[in-house]
Amino acid sequence: MALQAQNEMRALLLHLRPIYLSGEPLHEGLVRLIEELKKKSNINFNLDLDEVEVSQSKEEHIFRMVQEALSNILRHANAQNVKVELKNKDQEIFIHIDDDGVGFKADEQLEQKTSYGLQTMKERCEEIGGTFRIKSQEGHGTYIDIRIPK
Ligand SMILES: Nc1ncnc2c1ncn2[C@@H]1O[C@H](COP(=O)(O)OP(=O)(O)OP(=O)(O)O)[C@@H](O)[C@H]1O
Ligand SMILES: [Mg+2]
Repeated sequence: MALQAQNEMRALLLHLRPIYLSGEPLHEGLVRLIEELKKKSNINFNLDLDEVEVSQSKEEHIFRMVQEALSNILRHANAQNVKVELKNKDQEIFIHIDDDGVGFKADEQLEQKTSYGLQTMKERCEEIGGTFRIKSQEGHGTYIDIRIPK
């Protein structure tokens, strides 16, 4: 319980002190964010991050989405391994965030009007013309797939 409380507190701090990209490239911002998280958790992170060619404002949106996804993992997933991929394709940017934690009923949560994290992630994604998909099952981890057109 203490560990859980500690994780929640750390995620909360992360949540309340959003780090902005402030001009640095997205992949560098993500490395910095995840280095910070490594110090504060026992999660093993596996990163595969391309340099991407999108506007500054899209980079900021993507950064905030990844931040929320990681914040959720810290607070809710009890995961051991997290994989974060940022891939630069011809027409699109792919972002995958994968955890091996407890999982949840994603469809039900997205419809709930009481919590905003996932809802905001989806809206943010659609605002920049992207698609947001989340796959999760209780006991089988969570997989988030985001595609943003360039
Ligand atoms: N990676 C995850 N692993 C397990 N459960 C998750 C994960 N991400 C989200 N959830 C579940 O989905 C719920 C909704 O997530 P959401 O981010 O919308 O809200 P929240 O994190 O509870 O609150 P907030 O509005 O502060 O983000 C969470 O309460 C949690 O039960
Ligand atoms: Mg959340």
